[in-house]
Amino acid sequence: MLALSAALLVASAIQSATATIRFGCSQLVTQRFDPLVTPGIVSPHVHQIVGGNAFNLTMDPNEDYSKTATCTTCRFKEDKSNYWTAVLYFKHANGSYMRVPQKPNDQVGSTNGGMTVYYIAGYPPFQKVTAFKKGFRMIVGDPMIRTKAAPQRNSVESYAISFRCWDDPRGNSNNSPPGGGQDTAALPTKFCNGGIRSNIIFPTCWDGTSTDPEDHTSHMRYQTGTVDPGMGIIWQQGTCPSTHPVRTPTVIYEIAWDTAPFKSVWPKDGSQPLVMSMGDPTGYGQHGDYVFGWEGDSLQRAMDTCKDQFGTPEACRELTVLSDAEMNKCTQKPQVNERVEGEYLPALPGCNPVQNGPNPATMPANCGGSQPTATATSSTTVVQPTPTTSSTTVLVPQPTPQGPAIPKYGQCGGNGWTGSTTCVAGSTCTKLNDWYSQCT
Ligand SMILES: *[C@@H]1O[C@H](CO)[C@@H](O)[C@H](O)[C@H]1NC(C)=O
Ligand SMILES: *[C@@H]1O[C@H](CO)[C@@H](O)[C@H](O)[C@H]1NC(C)=O
Repeated sequence: MLALSAALLVASAIQSATATIRFGCSQLVTQRFDPLVTPGIVSPHVHQIVGGNAFNLTMDPNEDYSKTATCTTCRFKEDKSNYWTAVLYFKHANGSYMRVPQKPNDQVGSTNGGMTVYYIAGYPPFQKVTAFKKGFRMIVGDPMIRTKAAPQRNSVESYAISFRCWDDPRGNSNNSPPGGGQDTAALPTKFCNGGIRSNIIFPTCWDGTSTDPEDHTSHMRYQTGTVDPGMGIIWQQGTCPSTHPVRTPTVIYEIAWDTAPFKSVWPKDGSQPLVMSMGDPTGYGQHGDYVFGWEGDSLQRAMDTCKDQFGTPEACRELTVLSDAEMNKCTQKPQVNERVEGEYLPALPGCNPVQNGPNPATMPANCGGSQPTATATSSTTVVQPTPTTSSTTVLVPQPTPQGPAIPKYGQCGGNGWTGSTTCVAGSTCTKLNDWYSQCT
């Protein structure tokens, strides 16, 4: 728990711990879904999603997803919430993109990719907070921005979203709380030996009435007050504004990106080869989405009683701890018929030309028309959604004419596939999931 240890040493010298739970969540699915921003249609860019398996293209705020979901990829059985972020791609010198895999964070167990989630009840000593309720949702960050002012000590928000360049996840480069110390709002500009960690800290002050306004943000505010740049904001001793007086748990996401596989192909000229899935090479557009889905009052009970300093799941007796195997076996099949990871892709999935800024990114017009450039020859399957202009749900794979034998790495089957299922000599058609078989 070195992520918090420096902060905890300070805090425990002052007072006993606050309530904290910190836990890993394995990957549920990686695909272009975003039921908050683009319900009912395929999202413009790829997200990695963790949590309950009731996650879907549309999620009705009146539904109790803690009852609909039959499993969760997160450590606590009671937590059927969904948590998601954009993903990172490595851009090869030849112009192809490969998704950067995720690895378990420090001390979360053997989770499969995914992220680490914290719920923290403010600065020690213990303070009572009001847990979120059914239908509660929120978003932080803006995928379109490509620059940000430097963090300001009087702006809690300016410390909320950042990256950490890990020299070693268990070493000195991990000694400050998330968003504090050397963490940067932009993607690191060099190769980081231990990988990169994203830190996404949600606001703590709720208006007390709206569980999910149309913008998914205006019901929540960060605290006011000053920030100690070394400590960041997870225990900032500010006050909630009068418009948003109700203190909730502070939700934090940490994502550990495993850049090690790209070391040998990292650019020698000092350029930065990483791009977020929305075509953002700066990292300023990093964002996080949250859909509450805890069973009954389980989150409130945890925030009232789980006062382990380090937030260790096993120390929280109110909740039921799942094994790594139970978490890892909860998965969803991607429903969008396209490749997003595991191989070099000719372009970022969706319609995401790389936009460097500093001006905000613009959504290219008529994406759909220019989209499926890679259909016939490449290993990626057809992308057909037109998220900017269309409202159709696109879960039906695009028919492909019957044709000659499929080249190696081409699609050769899957639900709705009407093309050839014969692979060229020397390769065989292998089912990867119900939606996608490939000549391998
Ligand atoms: C997602 O929604 C569709 C359409 O309502 C439904 O058929 C499907 O069962 C849902 N999937 C999950 C995992 O709930
Ligand atoms: C770029 O290089 C990667 C790794 O060698 C390779 O898999 C990919 O096909 C290449 N892309 C192009 C367009 O040559």
